[in-house]
Amino acid sequence: MLLLGIESSCDETAAAVVDSPRHILSSVVDSQIPLHQPHGGVVPEIASRRHVEVVDRVVDEALARAGVAPSDLTAVAATRGPGLASSLLIGWSAAKGLAARLGVPLLAVHHVAGHLYSPFLAPDAPDRTPDLYPYIGLAVSGGHTGLYRCEAPGKTKLLARTVDDAAGEALDKAAKLLGLSYPGGPVIDRLARSVEVKSNTFPPTRLSEDAVGGSGLRPELCFSFSGLKTSLRRRIEKLRAEREPGNGAEESAPSSFLSESELRALVSEYQEAVVDAILERAELALRTELPRRAPRMLVAGGGVTLNSRLRERLAEMCGRLRARLLLALPAHCGDNAAMIAGAAAAGEGRPASLDLDVDPTWPI
Ligand code: KG4
Ligand code: ZN
Repeated sequence: MLLLGIESSCDETAAAVVDSPRHILSSVVDSQIPLHQPHGGVVPEIASRRHVEVVDRVVDEALARAGVAPSDLTAVAATRGPGLASSLLIGWSAAKGLAARLGVPLLAVHHVAGHLYSPFLAPDAPDRTPDLYPYIGLAVSGGHTGLYRCEAPGKTKLLARTVDDAAGEALDKAAKLLGLSYPGGPVIDRLARSVEVKSNTFPPTRLSEDAVGGSGLRPELCFSFSGLKTSLRRRIEKLRAEREPGNGAEESAPSSFLSESELRALVSEYQEAVVDAILERAELALRTELPRRAPRMLVAGGGVTLNSRLRERLAEMCGRLRARLLLALPAHCGDNAAMIAGAAAAGEGRPASLDLDVDPTWPI
């Protein structure tokens, strides 16, 4: 097996080569963060243009680093969805072109299935033998936040999702409100380090049956972060009005009326509220969505699993429940193609015909 994977669902152009589900020969990621930073978020037109510019070079580099000639490849896998249509299209078309030229199978991989597979790329992770199933998957990133029951390779059931913002989006938007740089997740993580949150004044979000809109998902497992963001905005506005009365300048940056320690305390509380929401639901899924008395396992991936507080709290919770925790290695948390190639090699890819299009809302 020599499998090339391509990922371009959002703002990273990535390619990787694997020679087995667990063995990565190369992994190249072209990050677009500097291009989107001035805009405070991903601009789809800029993202797709950059994918077009770099996809060939990224693929060539992945092949060269792996020491593999294109003609050696036995299959080409790519992210078919979900994601930004104009971004997905570039990587998917590149994969189609290569598969057609080489006469090898094309495999469609679901982006979240890639994130949920990413922890298995760690050298000390177990093999996905049948006895490991079912387990709970947690995907938390800038575009996705959900809980899953992984039942077999290629068989993953959605248990819960966010009804509005993703966890990473909640952090990124909070950072924007506070005048911090993009992406906000890592900035907040750094500011919150070593601050102890004794009590949290952000109210927890509870969803009703209506809020999950007849999806059949359990509302108590689903996520919502937009209320939290609104609470933060109100809090900032109140502080601004108190401290800069008469200024009326809604534009004034929170750094002008918050001290460094106040800013740290505020972002720590906010981050803790995001982490609390994830922890509470992950624990409920572990307790109620797996067979009783069988060993329990939580597998977590996505950019937000880079968060030091989330990693710490997940470890504590799984220790308490005597559940096994598999976290993606930092290099595999954010978008990358090793997770796409690995997932495809591990049976998460679907053979696709060359006339199959991308699907920006592809269900898992
Ligand atoms: O997986 P990813 O690279 O792209 C998506 O599929 O969305 O995730 C990006 C997200 C961003 O929202 C970013 O702020 C967040 O991951 N992130 C973090 C950290 N590093 C990246 N969030 C919290 N703490 C971090 N250390
Ligand atoms: Zn992602």
